Amino acid sequence: MSILGKSINRPDAPGKTTGETRFLTDITVENMVHGAPVYSSIPFGEYTNIDLSKAKKVDGYIDFVSAKDILAENQIGVIVPDQPLFADKTVRFIGDSIGLVVAETHEAAIKAAKAVSIAYREKTPYYTIDESRDAEDNFIGESNLACRHKVRKGDIQKGFAESDHIIEARFKTPYQEHYYLEPQACIASPDGPDKIKILGSLQCPFYIQKAIARVFDWPYENILVEQAPTGGAFGGKEDIPSEVCARAAVAAMKINRPVKVVYTRHDDVQLTSKRHPFQMHYKVGVKNDGTLVSAEILLEENAGAYATLSTVVSYRSCAQAMGPYVIPNIHVDSNSYLTNLPTTGAFRGFGSPQAAFGHERMMDVIADALGIEPMELRLINIVKPGDQTQTAQVLNESVGAEETIQEAAKLAKWDTFKPTNDSRYRYGLGMSSIHYGNCLGAAGWHMDGSGVNIKIFPDGNVHVAYGLVEMGQGSETAVRQMTAEAMGISIDRITVLPTNSAQVPDSGPAVASRNVVMTGNAIQNATKKILPVLKNSAAEWMNCSIEDISIGNDIIKDRSSGTEIQFHELCDYMGKAQTDMEFTGWWHTPELDYNAETGIGEAYFSYSFATQIAKVKVDTLTGFVNVQNIYAAYDVGKAINPSGIEGQVEGGSSQGIGWATTEDFRINDGVVQTPNLTTYLLPTAMDSADVETAIIEKPEPEGPWGAKGIGEPSIIPTAGAVANAVSNAIGIQMNEIPLTPERVLNALNGK
Ligand code: MOS
Repeated sequence: MSILGKSINRPDAPGKTTGETRFLTDITVENMVHGAPVYSSIPFGEYTNIDLSKAKKVDGYIDFVSAKDILAENQIGVIVPDQPLFADKTVRFIGDSIGLVVAETHEAAIKAAKAVSIAYREKTPYYTIDESRDAEDNFIGESNLACRHKVRKGDIQKGFAESDHIIEARFKTPYQEHYYLEPQACIASPDGPDKIKILGSLQCPFYIQKAIARVFDWPYENILVEQAPTGGAFGGKEDIPSEVCARAAVAAMKINRPVKVVYTRHDDVQLTSKRHPFQMHYKVGVKNDGTLVSAEILLEENAGAYATLSTVVSYRSCAQAMGPYVIPNIHVDSNSYLTNLPTTGAFRGFGSPQAAFGHERMMDVIADALGIEPMELRLINIVKPGDQTQTAQVLNESVGAEETIQEAAKLAKWDTFKPTNDSRYRYGLGMSSIHYGNCLGAAGWHMDGSGVNIKIFPDGNVHVAYGLVEMGQGSETAVRQMTAEAMGISIDRITVLPTNSAQVPDSGPAVASRNVVMTGNAIQNATKKILPVLKNSAAEWMNCSIEDISIGNDIIKDRSSGTEIQFHELCDYMGKAQTDMEFTGWWHTPELDYNAETGIGEAYFSYSFATQIAKVKVDTLTGFVNVQNIYAAYDVGKAINPSGIEGQVEGGSSQGIGWATTEDFRINDGVVQTPNLTTYLLPTAMDSADVETAIIEKPEPEGPWGAKGIGEPSIIPTAGAVANAVSNAIGIQMNEIPLTPERVLNALNGK
């Protein structure tokens, strides 16, 4: 391999670092106007009147669109049809959409939106999981349960009877706000009476296409969705852009002008989805020697006002609740409850970071109770080739879990670590091991296919269109590398096009760490068609047999005569010979044998594995936690771009450190109290750890060149590692995050 496995610079990096990249705020189209959201100021109830009189007096006011402007279906629910695009009387959270004001300028739209006066009839809201679960009437939806998933394996009572110890603990994880640097944004431009073009900051162009098709009852082909350069997403631009774009589309079609919507930061934080808060109860039976025997696990999630992507989060956290360990008997229930709060949905890991916090804290609680060294306890139970996961899926290949523990331990010098505690500062190490099911899994298998379109030009340049997106993670670079490798040509020839719904078939969402696996396989599939055509043309030109042609390093060679031509010379010849030089590739994940009733079977076709060790310094005077180091080891099957993997692990662990320590999302009576960076503390460079990453390659037979996903695994173990390290440093089990100074001081003071 000449290009894979090498660290390659990112083509999008110069523009993004110099500020030359034009994001949606910088983009203007002719005749464009601006939209601003009008939303519920009560958490639960009905609106009884909308008074536009003051809004209409704002200079530049054009129009107000709402539920009554929807001609076909007023529905935006991505999985469950429970969410109107514009509230039709009922509102379920502060931020629920009532309408969109359109005005000549962004400022006028915001001013007019604030001037819309709405009268309400209020109902008693539910805010907490407990309130929602225990409610007997006045439900938010048909009931307050957004969704539930379970796993039923073995006989847990028999398992507990056979256990030497039964250990129970409760854990809590908080909200996390995505805080992508670029807020939600789009431009919707009418194209005649029944067509529209969307330019958006987005993760899933085909979701938007489907959503608008439904709202207008149009064929998909009437809706063109193109991705603008996107300043971060992390799951927050999976389903939300569908509603932002569809509302802009309703307004644009009504007034027949392009409508741009860019959320203010305040609105973005109040209106859009977040990471689900979890409360968890673990009851685990173990033998004296540390072998896990039985577990009963309850995960409860605050879903917010609508179901949105809760089912994905509930499914995944359920299937991964006990982590990468062998356990013969296990029951898991994962229940998501509706509340009158902003929705929670996709956020890097889809519930995995929460479940990982549960199982990794639990492993340390067990280790502490049994007096077994925490790494030892993990090694006793870690899944190895031939073992079963908690869903009874036998993993035969690409199982590098054990190696991730050993490699991370080596980096951290785990065995010889001696804390240099003094009276004020305490030091600790904490380990956290995880697995992550790649792609959409059994619950989303029906839509787990992706495509590419590869076009070769007579000058030797190659354009690749793909259905997933670059949102900051480095997918463009990986796509270039994989295409160059598969075709045997120089990476400099390859341009990855901005994602556009017209260029490739519906490739599903750019989520679930899918890009390398899906797009890489689709590239390999396309290349199976490309190489014979190239060889056929080369043989024709060089007057030799196809079998004698080899392609590599940009050179086409006739091995019989030793004659060589450059790739671009062959392309020139093919162009003149009028050869078809456009190719498609497609890949669908393998079929999974899974029982949704019992939660038993192949939950995902492949798993990434990782271990992170955090080293922390705790100030016992102030309670401040400083995460000094993250030692990480990742089994990614095959590293496509090692520096890209290191970048993901650095970014993911920083985001995990934020969730574990500084990010203290507060919401009172449905109003977000932390809508800016003064109150919601993202980790800065000073708060981020020094990250070292070891890459382990246990090739996945279904992965392209053996590769597996890295995007989400990068954050999943971090919070558990940090909490384990703090618990280890201060000798108190810290079962709830964020580990703010207040929480740590309270623990130290016995509160
Ligand atoms: Mo991400 S949680 O896979 O949108």
